[in-house]
Amino acid sequence: MMDRRKPTRRAASQPANPPTRRASRAIRPERSHNRELLPFARPITFIDLFCGIGGFRLGFERAGGQCVFSCDWDKHARKTYEANFGEEPFGDINAIAPADIPEFDILCGGFPCQPFSIAGVSKKQSLGMKHGFEDKKQGNLFFSIADIIAHHRPPAFVLENVKHLQRHDKGRTYQVIIDTLQRRLGYHVHAQVIDARVVVPQHRERIFLVGFREDLPFSFPPFPAEGPKLGSILDPRPPQKYTLTDHLWNYLQNYAEKHRAAGNGFGYGLVTRNDVARTLSARYYKDGSEILISQGRGRNPRRLTPQECARLMGFPDDFVIPVSDTQAYRQFGNSIVVPVVQRVAEQVIATLAPALDRTPRKPRSRFAARSLFARDAALVQTASVE
Ligand SMILES: C[S@@+](CC[C@H](N)C(=O)[O-])C[C@H]1O[C@@H](n2cnc3c(N)ncnc32)[C@H](O)[C@@H]1O
Repeated sequence: MMDRRKPTRRAASQPANPPTRRASRAIRPERSHNRELLPFARPITFIDLFCGIGGFRLGFERAGGQCVFSCDWDKHARKTYEANFGEEPFGDINAIAPADIPEFDILCGGFPCQPFSIAGVSKKQSLGMKHGFEDKKQGNLFFSIADIIAHHRPPAFVLENVKHLQRHDKGRTYQVIIDTLQRRLGYHVHAQVIDARVVVPQHRERIFLVGFREDLPFSFPPFPAEGPKLGSILDPRPPQKYTLTDHLWNYLQNYAEKHRAAGNGFGYGLVTRNDVARTLSARYYKDGSEILISQGRGRNPRRLTPQECARLMGFPDDFVIPVSDTQAYRQFGNSIVVPVVQRVAEQVIATLAPALDRTPRKPRSRFAARSLFARDAALVQTASVE
């Protein structure tokens, strides 16, 4: 079914619905716009594609950007987004023509990574499903981004995905993406893998692709060499319900032992407050096995609370979580580390703003056709099947 709702434009002044649970209050003004970072002639605008719960948006707003359009088709993610930003994102990206998206300076998009991630690919393979660009539902979304870039010709874009994107399908997927952005769309692309452990206590490697329409002097931001440890985000007295039952803890230990005996590395990740966590995944709600917090001898470990997951992803403590624990774990596991985006965003805006002050606002569209890249999606699918 096509989502025919009108896209939301600027944030409404108030959240449409009061948050239902664990609500504190809507986003604080100082968090949504840091005017000190705006010494430019006009605000830099961005669109937040595949916005999830707004990790990109928080980072870009903190860097001084102004969001003019957001979209995500997941109703639970939209609920969290609305509770925090006061606007409900548009739904399916394929249900809006690029021409109906308002004018903007920077396209932001953490496009779905399951078709390219190691876990997503092996799961899809085991179920006999297509992955990468061949995943008809999710793999082609890069081409929707390409269509929007082709139509609007924004001064810049920032895309994010799993590190494994570079190696998927023996590097061909990445090659098609870079080729499309550089050669076909004519952008100057900078790529870097950033491990979020330099700003949060979580090992989380993601690739950032930053592109500029003009050849501007951009470099990725510097990060501290050493990041914080888990102790900085843990609750001193978490509710008992997050402690693993004997049944689950025994199961996880037996499972790990079985795989150890078979020479596999599968197992749970037991950590203390002095450690850095493994990557929080969208599946954390299942058993929490990738990050289990030790509670000392004689006590079963516990999983992180949703609030601790929020901190692990760099979200502030007053970020409203209006959904169930299950949905909250999924949402944070799917999200992006806010302080990483913020630093990248500051660098992109600092690079772009002086150039924008000199150039007219009007986007220069050299491409008229809608879905210019939709046909490419089909061609790539055929070409990558050997
Ligand atoms: C990796 S997550 C991005 C999360 C986001 N960066 C954040 O900070 O929360 C990808 C998102 O794409 C959304 N998505 C997948 N297919 C979509 C489609 N066809 N249209 C709109 N959103 C879609 C999913 O619901 C998911 O929230």
